[in-house]
Formats: sequence, C-alpha cells, structure tokens
Amino acid sequence: MAIVIVQQNAMRDGRCVRFARIVRCIHPAGYFAKLLPIHPNFAIPQSAFPNPHSNMFGIKAFAPASVGNIGIGFDILGLALERPGDEVIATKSNTPGVRINKITGAGGKLPLDPEKNTAGVAALRLLEHLGASSQGIELEIHKKMPIGSGLGSSAASAAAAVLAVSELLRTGMSKVELLPFAHKGEQIATGSIQLDNVAPSLLGGIVLARDSATLDVHRLHVPHGLFLAVVHPQMEILTKTARALLKPDVSLQQHVRQSANIGAFIVGLYNADIPLIGRCLHDEIIEPQRAGLIPGFYAVKEAAMMAGALGCSISGAGPSVFALCPNSLVAENAGEAMQKAFAENGLKTVLYLSGINQEGAVIC
Ligand code: HSE
Repeated sequence: MAIVIVQQNAMRDGRCVRFARIVRCIHPAGYFAKLLPIHPNFAIPQSAFPNPHSNMFGIKAFAPASVGNIGIGFDILGLALERPGDEVIATKSNTPGVRINKITGAGGKLPLDPEKNTAGVAALRLLEHLGASSQGIELEIHKKMPIGSGLGSSAASAAAAVLAVSELLRTGMSKVELLPFAHKGEQIATGSIQLDNVAPSLLGGIVLARDSATLDVHRLHVPHGLFLAVVHPQMEILTKTARALLKPDVSLQQHVRQSANIGAFIVGLYNADIPLIGRCLHDEIIEPQRAGLIPGFYAVKEAAMMAGALGCSISGAGPSVFALCPNSLVAENAGEAMQKAFAENGLKTVLYLSGINQEGAVIC
C-alpha cells in the first residue's frame, strides 16, 4: 500500500485549520482522496513538504491575542484567545537585513524601523541566532487588534514574525525554541521582561511562566468548555504607566491568599473543577491598584459576575477587561452586560468572544 500525503490549510470559523490531504492511496479498497483534520498540537514543519515554490511568495503566520495575568497570576499566567490576532507575512529579498514594507491596522502608530518594531526585532534576533544576518527578509504586518489594549498586541506581532521567518527559512525550530526571539521582540515595545503574553500567543493554551529570565514556561491543562468575553473600551493604557503605579510590596497575608488562589486555580484546571476555578479568581494585589485607570471597572465586573462569569478582571495591564466563563452562552451574556456597563460610564467598546486557543501561532 502506498500513501502520499500533502499538507493543506483551510479557513474554518475564521481560523486557519491544518489538514492533511491524501492525494494517492493504492490500497486493496481502491483509490481515494480525502481531507483529514490534523490534531492541533501536531505541527508538520513546512520543510517536510519540499515544494520549491512554497516560500517564493512568502509565508504568512497568525498569532493570537492573549490575556496576561488572568487576574491572579501577575506576570506569570496568561492565556491565548482564538481571536483577534495579528498576521505577519515574511518574504525573502536580495537586499540583506530585515525591512518592514507595510503595516496595516495600526493607524500609523507603529514604526517601520525594524530595530524599533516588535516584529522587526524578533526577526532580527532570530537571524542573528541563525548566523543569517545577511539574509534579506521583508515583513508585512497586519494588525488585527487594538494596540495598547491589554490584549498582547506587541507579543502577537513578535510571535507571528518569528514563526513566519522560521518557516520561510525552513529552520525546523520548534515554537519553544523560537520563544526567546519573540520575547526579545516584545520587550522592545513594552520594556518589560515578563512572558505572560508572548508565551501563550506563540505556544497557545494557558501558560505558567515560572521564570522569565530562563524562559521556564509550562502549558497547563485546559478543561473543556471555558470561554471568555473580553471587552475593550476605546481608550489606551500604556503598560509602563500601569506598572509604574504599582506598590513594590505586598503584605504577608496578601501573599498567602494570592499564592493559595494561584495554586488552587491550577488544581482546578487539572481537575476540570470549574467552581474551584471560579473561587480562585480574586486578585487582591494588582486589580485594586489599577481599577481606577478604567472608568466604571467595578460596575463592569459586577455585571459580568451577575451574568454568571466565573471571574472578571483586567486583561494584562488593561484597559480591556475579561470575564472567564463556564461556557459560550454565559460569555455572550456577560459580554453584553459588560458592554452596557461601560456604555453607562461613557465608553464605547468592542467585544471579543473566544474559547482558549490551544494552537497559538500558526502558519496560514
Ligand atoms: N503582566 C503585565 C502587567 C502585562 O500586568 O503589567 C503583560 O505582560
């Protein structure tokens, strides 16, 4: 029996899904061609399919938005959303170095200088690591989420850039191996070293970053059904500003309660104990210090909880607010209630409803 399989991507529900197409099968049962979905965690490197034309026209990668902190895990927990996300297209060029040809969706706010741009820096550091700094790379960045929103926009561009460049150059590197370069890219934008956005955006799922300096990151089990409503009010908060107002110390009691909640939250994920997850989502250290930056935050939170959310807090450094919900129906109701509460505080909003993205960045 001989089987020939080629990889193919297709769009499903606005997402890029990877398929294997059996193009030739000589089997006693006959000859057939069929599309088989591949498990999301099963990544086939492009290099496994030697198509001489595949990178002549460039490689496009998508990387999702993320919710940093997940309320209780300041700088150490983060999760990837299905949508929104950024796209980066990488193509080879004959001129050495990285150039950014085009940025869409950022209203002219992002620099084209690769050394100042999160995607550009990520690509440059990857090329240096590969000893390929003389390789010419052109990048197009399509921002499909708001910047300065607390949704990990800089991280998504950096994650998409390293994946696109890696596939273009057929490095065969895993996403974990690409993480340091995406991390360096994100740092140029935020100035911060934490991984709670870039790790989930690249790797997918819910991630615990035990130590950012050594990139000691761990994907956690994601129970079935969890869904989020993320509401972005039309305002911007700089991560730098939101960090500057944090007190450097916590009390022993706060430390004890927060540690207990983080630990039990992880137990809740592994045991699919949804009520336990809900009991743990109380951030008493960071949220009270930042709430004042977001008009009507406590009304928005109350609206989400009244609609059945397991927990509601600030996404990353804000101003987006997320509600973690036991299913998509609760998320829809919570999202609508949160938007209403923001409107009562004079803020227009955009609502994102999403499951937890288990794939992270993908070639599409
Ligand atoms: N964890 C960061 C903060 C934001 O809350 O300041 C995202 O990295």
